[in-house]
Formats: sequence, structure tokens, C-alpha cells
Amino acid sequence: MEMQFSQLAEDLGGSTNPLYALRDKLQGQGEIIVDLVRGSVNEHGIVFPPDTLHSILADAMVPARQYRPDSFGQPVAREAIASYYAELNFTAEQILLTPGTSLSFLYCFKLLAEVGDEIICPQPSYPLFDYIARICGVDLLHYRLLESRQWSIDLDHLNDQISTRTRAILLISPHNPTGMVADDEQLAGVAEIAQRHNLPIIADEVFSEFLFGIDRLPRPAATEAPLVFTLNGFSKMFALPGMKLGWMAVSGDEALVRKSLQALEMIADTFLPVNEIVQFSVPGVFARGRAFQQSYVAWIAQCHEKAMAGLAGLECSLDFNRPQGGFYLTVPTHADEDEVAMALLGEHKILTHPGYYYDIEPNHLVMTIVNDPQTLAESFHNIARATKHD
Ligand SMILES: Cc1ncc(COP(=O)(O)O)c(C=O)c1O
Repeated sequence: MEMQFSQLAEDLGGSTNPLYALRDKLQGQGEIIVDLVRGSVNEHGIVFPPDTLHSILADAMVPARQYRPDSFGQPVAREAIASYYAELNFTAEQILLTPGTSLSFLYCFKLLAEVGDEIICPQPSYPLFDYIARICGVDLLHYRLLESRQWSIDLDHLNDQISTRTRAILLISPHNPTGMVADDEQLAGVAEIAQRHNLPIIADEVFSEFLFGIDRLPRPAATEAPLVFTLNGFSKMFALPGMKLGWMAVSGDEALVRKSLQALEMIADTFLPVNEIVQFSVPGVFARGRAFQQSYVAWIAQCHEKAMAGLAGLECSLDFNRPQGGFYLTVPTHADEDEVAMALLGEHKILTHPGYYYDIEPNHLVMTIVNDPQTLAESFHNIARATKHD
């Protein structure tokens, strides 16, 4: 008899799609591709200063020498994270360290849902959640973000999607891939729905530091929602994805927070949180990474400006929503999105994604603003032309 694998294993590993096949072919011919998909700042020279990191890690080695694990994560790390949320008055006891935001999602799904239960997440959406839901056996349902209203949350649709199987509402702000930042009014609307249906909110804030024209990120944890899991980590915040340092802050009704933390302690204890040296480095990264973070945030703002300048031609003919935060944006195209993406790659050597990869109605392109600012100005000019005339 043939060896049996899970349905997940059977379903994965499909064929390479034509866009990636073309990219590979062009690269094989020695072409340089402007990758507007990956959004990795490290590839563009934005790296946490190595000497500072070296010194922070060397200091962290000292307390890490004696292995005394804590399932929530080392208190010094949790205290530093709690202080980061100055305006929310979180305590270290509300913070749990995880090996990255993706794992935080997995812990939340396991905490809240049984196999076959539902979690509702925004549409469009970054595909990560589909995979995590699949691994957890949870069904993802979607609520709409309205392109005609700056990708704001369709609260009526969100409310309609809730069933007796719904276990949580997922929010991403700043949003990937639309660049939407939910304002206080939208968050109050989501919190009211969460309260009425007694549902927790899982808030993904990994792009919290990168805001355009907004001076403060509205946070679900500041609303009246009964239970909120606020997710973030060093991956985007300090351009340190390799540190694998994420966290969640649990807030809301005291009894619900206590119950959540008890179960999360067990889930986290099963794997134990994060490399101890990394945990002990957390206060140092916050304290000594500030100057770097300021220059990094300024660089992203410059990328955003260059991309917007390049796209300016689009605005006269298309209803294009400028991103308010994050690393990504979504633009409509006049022609078939697959054809536009293939033409941009073939003719201009620019890799973007068609919108349907993110569950967006036809026809759109999704791209990152993370690239060398000069390259961005030229690339976005070409994107503006391609989306208009092709
Ligand atoms: C919206 C969003 N959430 C979560 C993640 C994953 O974060 P981490 O690197 O901390 O796992 C990403 C990564 O790009 C993301 O775009």
C-alpha cells in the first residue's frame, strides 16, 4: 500500500505559475528583476546596526548562560514590550513572547477555535492566514474592505458574516496589501460588533511604525472590545526578521484575559517561547535601536513618496487609494491583471502580483514600496503607464 499523507501535504506543491516561470527565465538570461513582491528591507541595505546588535547580544549572553525558561518569556523582555505600549498601560503579565507573528496567529487560533470553527478575516488579505487556518483545521470567512471608501471595513458585511461557529475577528492595520489604516471610528464599529457577539479581536499590527500622514496608530486594544490579542514583533519593527521574536498582548475583560493567559501558558510551554539570548536582548533592542528605527521609518517614508510620485499619472484616470501605512499597496488596472503583470515583467523587468493572489476582485496589481527609492520612482512610472494603456 502507498504511504499515506495528510490532505494538506497532498494539496501543496503545485506547479510553478507562469509569472514565476517568466521571472526564472529572465533571471536565467542574466536580467535584473525589480522585485516589488518581497518587501524585504534587509535586501535594500536597511539592517539593524551590526555593532550595536553585536553588543546587545553579547550583553544578553550573560543572563542567558543559566537556563531558566519562563513559558511566557523572560520578564525583562515582557516588561520592555509592555513599556512600548505606553498609552495602553499593559503590564508584563499580559505579554506572551512567541517565535514570530505567524506563530502568534497559530497560538490564537488554537486557543479560540476547534476544527471546523470559523475565524473572519479581511478580504483582500495577505495569504498567510489561509495557511495557518489550514494547519489548524479552522475555516476562514471574509469580511470586505471597500475599495470605494479607501479600503475601509464594511461593518455590515462583517456583522453578516458572523455565525454560531465564529470564534474571532481578525484585523490587520496597517493592512497588507491595501495600505489601509483603520481609524478610531472603524475600530469602535468593530469593537461594538465584537461586544454584541462576545467575540475576541486578533489585531495584527506588524506595520505599526510605518504610517503616512497619520501621527498615531488607532489600536483595537484601546476600544471597548471584550478581548483583544495585539500582535507584533521585531521582524518589521526593527528590520530583524531573523531574530524570530514576536509577541502578543492580551487585554480586555479581566476574567477573559486570565482564562486566555492560562491556556496560552500551556500552549507556549509545549514549545517554549524563543531563544533565550534573543529574549534577553529585547530591552537592548528597544533602548539602543531607536536611532536606527527613526532612520528606517524615514527611509520607508521616502520610498512611499517616490512610489506615489511615480504613480501620479494614475490618479487622473483611476480611483487609486494611497496607502496610509505599511509596505504594500494595491492599484487597479484597465486591462486583465495577469496580462498586465506579465507585460510589466516581460517588458520592464518589474515583478508585481495580480490582485487575485490576495482575493481582490479583478483587475488589480499588488506591489511593495520597499525598494531603492530611485528605482521606485522609475518603476512606478512604468507601472502607471502599464496599468493605464495596456
Ligand atoms: C500582515 C502581516 N502579518 C504578519 C506577518 C508575519 O510576521 P512575522 O515575520 O513576525 O512572522 C507579515 C509578514 O510579512 C505580514 O505582512
